[in-house]
Amino acid sequence: MKNILLSALLCAAFSATHATAQNLLPLPQRFEKAKGAATVKAPETKPLITDQTTLQSVAQGRYTQASEAYSLTITPDGINGKWDNPLGEFRMQQTLAQLRDDKGNLPLCTIEDSPAYYWRGAMLDVSRHFFSLDFVKKQIDVLAQYKINRLHLHLTDAAGWRMEIKRYPRLTGLGAFRTFDSWKTWWDGRKEFGGVNDPLRRKYVEEGSADAHGGYYTQQQLRELVQYAAQRGITIVPEIEMPAHSEETLTAYPELSCTHEPYKQADFCPGNVATYDFLEHVLEEVMDVFPSVYIHVGGDEAAKASWAACPRCQQKMHELGIWHPNAEGTLANGEQLHKLQAHLIAHMGDFLQSHGRKLIGWDEVIDENLSKNTTVMVWRNADFAADAVRNGYDVILSPGSHCYLDGYQDAPNLEPEAMGGFTPLEKVYGFVPGEALTPEQRAKHVKGVQGNLWTEYVPTEAQVEHMFYPRMLALAEIGWNGTATKDYPAFRKRALAEVEALRARGVMAFDLAHEIGDRKEFTTPIRHKASGAKVTYAPEAPYNTTAYAAAGDASLTDGLRGSWSYGDHRWQGFIGGKDYRFDVTLDLGRKTSFSSVATDFMQMCGPEIFYPADYVVSISDDGENFRELGRMHRDSEKTVNPDVMTFSVSKKAKARYIRVQATASAFGGWLFADEVVVK
Ligand code: ACM
Ligand code: ZN
Repeated sequence: MKNILLSALLCAAFSATHATAQNLLPLPQRFEKAKGAATVKAPETKPLITDQTTLQSVAQGRYTQASEAYSLTITPDGINGKWDNPLGEFRMQQTLAQLRDDKGNLPLCTIEDSPAYYWRGAMLDVSRHFFSLDFVKKQIDVLAQYKINRLHLHLTDAAGWRMEIKRYPRLTGLGAFRTFDSWKTWWDGRKEFGGVNDPLRRKYVEEGSADAHGGYYTQQQLRELVQYAAQRGITIVPEIEMPAHSEETLTAYPELSCTHEPYKQADFCPGNVATYDFLEHVLEEVMDVFPSVYIHVGGDEAAKASWAACPRCQQKMHELGIWHPNAEGTLANGEQLHKLQAHLIAHMGDFLQSHGRKLIGWDEVIDENLSKNTTVMVWRNADFAADAVRNGYDVILSPGSHCYLDGYQDAPNLEPEAMGGFTPLEKVYGFVPGEALTPEQRAKHVKGVQGNLWTEYVPTEAQVEHMFYPRMLALAEIGWNGTATKDYPAFRKRALAEVEALRARGVMAFDLAHEIGDRKEFTTPIRHKASGAKVTYAPEAPYNTTAYAAAGDASLTDGLRGSWSYGDHRWQGFIGGKDYRFDVTLDLGRKTSFSSVATDFMQMCGPEIFYPADYVVSISDDGENFRELGRMHRDSEKTVNPDVMTFSVSKKAKARYIRVQATASAFGGWLFADEVVVK
């Protein structure tokens, strides 16, 4: 244990200081403020790691949680810090920097601190949009402040290959540049994603040509980045996608796909020995540049569409003893294709292991035959964490529900376009890692947490910062302090102070002070003339019972309205009906006077949720014979941002039964409704 007594001046001023635990983010494990208002002048510090052994272990990510621990006692005599490792000293320096008030004074206090988790990560997708080296360094500066210790770079994907590979220059010579700067404009060339289906739009272009958009990092730049991050206690973890998300590679080197056609395949051919040679050669250069013991190989979302009918893939499945074709003897099934992918992943895991490294993959890599030093990065749900742990693998938890920072963090109708979903700060902060695992499994296998920023809808640097902060701060707190003491209002106060400080120095964090929050309708139950009324659903237009049933038959008159999340079990989803996608009849119990019948519908075009085209209200006294009271029409129109619109018919009437019908939009898709409000 090293310790130093930092020279410090006793500050004579007994001014009130606001340097309390409230300023510390993440919270330390133990913080005790000494009685009295005395403060100590903070020393000028230069908080960078310079010790060569420590720099190496940080670059490799081979340090332990214990080496990040420190303690700190601030008395009128000075500042007494203790640590075992310069990494612990560096973490302490971040705490000291947060303790300083704006006059440069420190409060008298005692801190004992160490991280709850080994892995406290942030992921930045630099493929969908490319970000400069200086910008990535700026993020490292910010992340280090909050004791984040891993920066995972998603370096390759269809949208661009971002790392110089000397043996395969076409990866960047063609694969790093495309026809449009905006991912959305570029990608929308494909019909299946709702675009204009102009194949000329979604192209890769030669480096240096006039219309080239994109870029890549040279190996020299990446080595510099590794060193820069290590000096700030952060390990850079590279991700090279395989076998899917590889359109750029398979256009630059089409011989590595099943059909050898450029622009046609997203997946490597796992039946071709050339694929394994190529990926090993790439990983050799990756390992040469990145000392990280963990190398991420992606593994997510392989369509495997070309594999079933590919002679090489079939031959490979033969060799592996997993070839059990269908009745015609021509095609493999999904389980066999999964095994073929698992073979490729296991091969790469063994290859990395033979070089002293460990494979990380997204949770699709789970298979019983991977080497036990595989780490699974869980992005779907708790079932996959349980599955990985059952197979004996370590997990890093980054579930989309809480850790995907590409969703909206505030009212989606007012935020810049995002991926969809609603993931405000409070939701991220509410994440409890490994809730569904046993305490033993958690202790043994949960290595940590990570926030992921995919950048399909993040075209600018300012937007990266807007999406990252303050939500990354919530994950920093969970990763460092753990989740034993959750207190959102207190956390939010500290986050507000951090946002203000970040914005003051040009980090464009989301303006938390002006957060609108969830829909006020969601937090305000409503009573009206149809409250509790019995609702009958037309058999031709049932609600979806798999995921969007909400409170079943009671949903539309229970007074509970939807949030910005269509999956909140308040919104009821309808996909089936033909003439009317939504067709319900309310029984008010007796003849009742009213003047309006209104229903909120959500529109969120990504998941094909649209406003209705026609909204029709009819009334009846016997529940059999209805006459139309009124209707409302809206021309179907796609909108960039999600929103909610009230469809209503306002007309004085008296009736016992009210029938509300709505047709689907011109685009088809879903209708999502919450309450039928009768006033
Ligand atoms: C992922 O979001 N496809 C890992
Ligand atoms: Zn193949």
